[in-house]
Amino acid sequence: MVVGVSGGIATYKVCELVRALKKRGAAVVTVMTPAATQFVGPLTFEALSGNPVLTDLWGHQRLAWDLPEEARRRMGGRVAHVDVAEAADCLVIAPATADLMSRLVRGETGDALTAVALATPAPQVVCPSMDAQMWKHAATRANVATLRARGARIVEPESGELASGLEGKGRLAGTETILAEVSAALERRVSLRGVDVLVTAGSTEEPLDPVRVLTNRSSGKMGYALAAAARDRGANVTLVSGPARVEPPQGVTLVAVTSAMQMESAVRTHAARARVVVMAAAVADYRPARAAEGKIRSGERALTLDLVPNPDILAGLGRSRRRGQFIVGFALETAPGLTAARRKLLQKGCDLIVLNNVRERGAELGGDTNKVTLVAAKGVERLPVLSKREVAERILDRVGTMLAARHGATPRPARIRPRRAARISRT
Ligand code: CTP
Repeated sequence: MVVGVSGGIATYKVCELVRALKKRGAAVVTVMTPAATQFVGPLTFEALSGNPVLTDLWGHQRLAWDLPEEARRRMGGRVAHVDVAEAADCLVIAPATADLMSRLVRGETGDALTAVALATPAPQVVCPSMDAQMWKHAATRANVATLRARGARIVEPESGELASGLEGKGRLAGTETILAEVSAALERRVSLRGVDVLVTAGSTEEPLDPVRVLTNRSSGKMGYALAAAARDRGANVTLVSGPARVEPPQGVTLVAVTSAMQMESAVRTHAARARVVVMAAAVADYRPARAAEGKIRSGERALTLDLVPNPDILAGLGRSRRRGQFIVGFALETAPGLTAARRKLLQKGCDLIVLNNVRERGAELGGDTNKVTLVAAKGVERLPVLSKREVAERILDRVGTMLAARHGATPRPARIRPRRAARISRT
């Protein structure tokens, strides 16, 4: 567990957080910004965590890490902030000042904490604390939204009296609230460990001639967020993607396709071993009966296109589902659509349908947010407008609980006991 501390009046409260993490059995490494050390001395965190504190990018030699032989070999020739970043199974940043969040968003690495934050593959729990006006400012709102969209869990500050003597929202969340978020982040991190997940995303393009296509306005953002979220939960992700407007996530197996027919063939190949399939792609329902060999010429007369239906990939999957496979479909509607979603759930043989009405505010095609309703045979869950990453997390949470219920297992209780960070201790 790595606790990143930035400099604000709430810095002293993080001593309590480190103590609580230790009490729960976590091995804790603290990383402080120079400003944080103005509020609380590194010695305090060293004593509480039982580990040297990383305060800058230059003191590698001074840190007396006591490491098992294997870990010593692994870290040989590396720099401290990269070692800490790799050892972390969760990075908790508390307090996260407005300035720190702004630097995190820009990907700066000028101090040990921002460098660790950029280098770590671990989930991040960001606990802001600042003046109420700073918290409300459009710049902070945008930074929080960006961090959320990148997968960070934001533990919202609480309301009350602030260091300035004014009242408002900006106090660091309580230790128990932060611990609950850390547990949830750790739980999510392993919730799909080793599970083969197939995600489809993007649009499809159906050729009319060598230069023109029939397509739709899907951006691919929702499917890509699902693939990234599943990857971060430890899944082996195959992403079958049609054309999209965003960069595909790293760390997944990308299968690029263009048309619905190509997507069907790729899905059939990769679904054979997938335990979970999420069909987020906006597949064209029709394709031109024939793609013209040469460019279709302009003219005065009206042009009629002959379209033939594409195969329904999701329905095909539902019919040939392998034992124990869990299938999630989407229902993209331009009206409330609950009846249509229930019909699609049955007709396409899915376990879960993610319904979204693109006419609703926050659910527009191509946007960074979505507003969905999760429709299962037993129960309908309406979610508020959330970042696409958070929608992805909620969908995967639901997949996890439904799978656990199917196998009669109760979800594992959350545990704060990092394995890899435990390799770092004092001599
Ligand atoms: N889908 C599919 N193959 C198609 C069309 C859709 O696999 N040829 C999948 C989508 O990926 C999505 C689900 O089916 O998961 C629902 O897609 P949607 O466009 O909402 O519905 P349709 O089945 O196309 O029905 P309609 O257009 O009549 O609403």
